[in-house]
Amino acid sequence: MIQTKRNILLNPGPATTTDTVKNAMVVPDICPRELEFGELTLSVRNDLIKAAYGEKNHTCVMLTSSGTGGVEACLTSVVPHNKKVLILNNGAYGERMQKICDAYNVGHIDYNQKWGLALDLKEVEKFFKAHQGEISHVAFIHHETTVGILNPMSAISTLAQKYRVETIVDAMSSFAGMMIDVEKDNIHYLVSSSNKCIQGMAGISFVIANLKSLLKTKEIKARNFYFNLLENHLYLEKNKQFLFTPPVQTLYALRQAITEYFEEGPEQRFARYSSMYEIMKKRVLELGFTFLVEEKDHAKLLTAIMDPKSPNYSFNEMHDFLFERGFTIYPGKVGDVNTFRLSNIGAIYPQDIEDFLKVFEEYLRVKKII
Ligand SMILES: Cc1ncc(COP(=O)(O)O)c(C=O)c1O
Repeated sequence: MIQTKRNILLNPGPATTTDTVKNAMVVPDICPRELEFGELTLSVRNDLIKAAYGEKNHTCVMLTSSGTGGVEACLTSVVPHNKKVLILNNGAYGERMQKICDAYNVGHIDYNQKWGLALDLKEVEKFFKAHQGEISHVAFIHHETTVGILNPMSAISTLAQKYRVETIVDAMSSFAGMMIDVEKDNIHYLVSSSNKCIQGMAGISFVIANLKSLLKTKEIKARNFYFNLLENHLYLEKNKQFLFTPPVQTLYALRQAITEYFEEGPEQRFARYSSMYEIMKKRVLELGFTFLVEEKDHAKLLTAIMDPKSPNYSFNEMHDFLFERGFTIYPGKVGDVNTFRLSNIGAIYPQDIEDFLKVFEEYLRVKKII
């Protein structure tokens, strides 16, 4: 097995991967039209459905793209031409959904909340009520990675059921990092990608879709081609092959990542991620920092931390200091509020966070920021 230098990625994905996932990509060349690859494809698809507890009523459409491709595929494939999607926006990824709809002329109604704040469900319900009959779907981000907020999936889904609309959830940075049950929460489309909490390589997005809902989209005149969800699904069903060339080696890595996910166990993975958040939170608060998002709304997968007031502070300098020592952190600007972000997802462990905190503190002391 090839062993690589271990970098601790505290950016919100692509996340750190294990050496076994990296090595899974070193395979003999294979044509993806071969049956052997078809079996691998179906096993990955079925296990993604299983990871979302969707075996009863859901399928999964995998696409060759980053996560945004999956969101784009979903929004442009499922909203009928004579209906609109209600988009709940409290961060950059909610806003991105609106931009995708604009680009393709998908009708949308926007509920905009200030970034960093929780959605106001009373306000949200007013939108459902005011646009009853006009909207067919509600779309929102589960873990809004811009700030680290967890939007209340079950409560929004309950509203969606009350007003008879289907749900589209961007769970890019929460799927496999916390328990998501598409059946229990009545989620029609759940989108994620291969390189975040599932701990695989970048290159595959996937949409876990309620099969009945997906089949109904046959009636919608296509606005897209490569990203048509139903066409991609039907082709795989019929031929055991991706409709277009898949990222072959990335799929082998994803197979291994999913195996490691089930070996670790969903609850244990969430417990590991949460314990890293708790370690980080305790020390960072002791050092005098404040967090942007209130604890009650926090997903505990990523933390937006207010920049220190000291004139000696520079994000780029801090980034470089940490990077040279094996830790990658991420900037984050929310309106006129400057933050930096620390994620605790991927193949990293409590000891990595302890090690990071020592180096972080060293930087702060060297620079006389604390
Ligand atoms: C919630 C959310 N949605 C969408 C995306 C976009 O994913 P990608 O950069 O893979 O296209 C991200 C990326 O971090 C994300 O966190």
